[in-house]
Amino acid sequence: MNGVGTHKIQGKELIYSVLDAALAAGYRSIDTASVYKNESDIGSSLLELLAKYNLKREDIFITSKLGPRDQGSGKCREACLQSLSRLKTDYLDLYLIHWPGVQGFKPADSKQKILRQESWKDMEMLYKEGKLKSIGISNYQKHHLEELLQDSSVKPAVLQTEHHPHLVQHEVWKFCQENNIQYQAYSSLGASKDNMLLNDAVIKEIGKKHQRPVAQILLRWAIQQGIGVLPKSTNMQHISENADIFSFELDDEEMKMISQIDSQHHYCWDSSTIV
Ligand code: A2P
Repeated sequence: MNGVGTHKIQGKELIYSVLDAALAAGYRSIDTASVYKNESDIGSSLLELLAKYNLKREDIFITSKLGPRDQGSGKCREACLQSLSRLKTDYLDLYLIHWPGVQGFKPADSKQKILRQESWKDMEMLYKEGKLKSIGISNYQKHHLEELLQDSSVKPAVLQTEHHPHLVQHEVWKFCQENNIQYQAYSSLGASKDNMLLNDAVIKEIGKKHQRPVAQILLRWAIQQGIGVLPKSTNMQHISENADIFSFELDDEEMKMISQIDSQHHYCWDSSTIV
């Protein structure tokens, strides 16, 4: 799946133009979160844009996430209902616990485990009520997933986490494959200020060979392994470029070359110390 990411994209005008370009390029999946503070603008933009593109609500897939300060029984439910209201929709296609930790808690505080479990119970209920079509988690490590699978009546459908050629998260990715949890990558393009991933010599060389932008090589590498991607951009040309990843293929040698540049480098956050 290739969805459009919206982290750090704010303001009605910008959101509208990003979503307009994304829908024109063929994207039908939009990823947001309450902490991105753009749900209201996404909701109102979509009302206009669905009409413009002659689309129905069910033609698009909307993902949002539970913020770390909203974890816990009742609070999770309330936060989810607020996201629905801001997004001006009756249901979400996917709702994720954004982070295994809770705002203000130290990584080793075991109360976080209870709050995560309580949040999941709220989400299971919202799923059963039809307000959430699927539920999942983000930034969980293997130990968080094991804990969740032991105590859930609805299995997580999706894990979203940082994953790209500089950070191959072998353990949690394998666990998801073994447990039929769709693995979705964020920051496929590296998300760094100095663009280390977009400037990687190996990726650039492969891009040159295919006469393809480096971003497409990075996204294609993930898609070819069954990993969902959520590239984000405010540049209209990049948005359409990032959608065009299904008309070429990387060969085995190229896939191997890319996998060899793994340096276990987090460009975003590392959740492995959270108990
Ligand atoms: P821009 O908004 O100028 O396109 P990630 O999704 O990994 O977090 O990466 C987001 C970053 O990658 C943004 O800085 C975005 O900048 C940049 N980016 C997105 N698409 C492309 C592209 N096709 N080519 C170059 N940079 C891109």
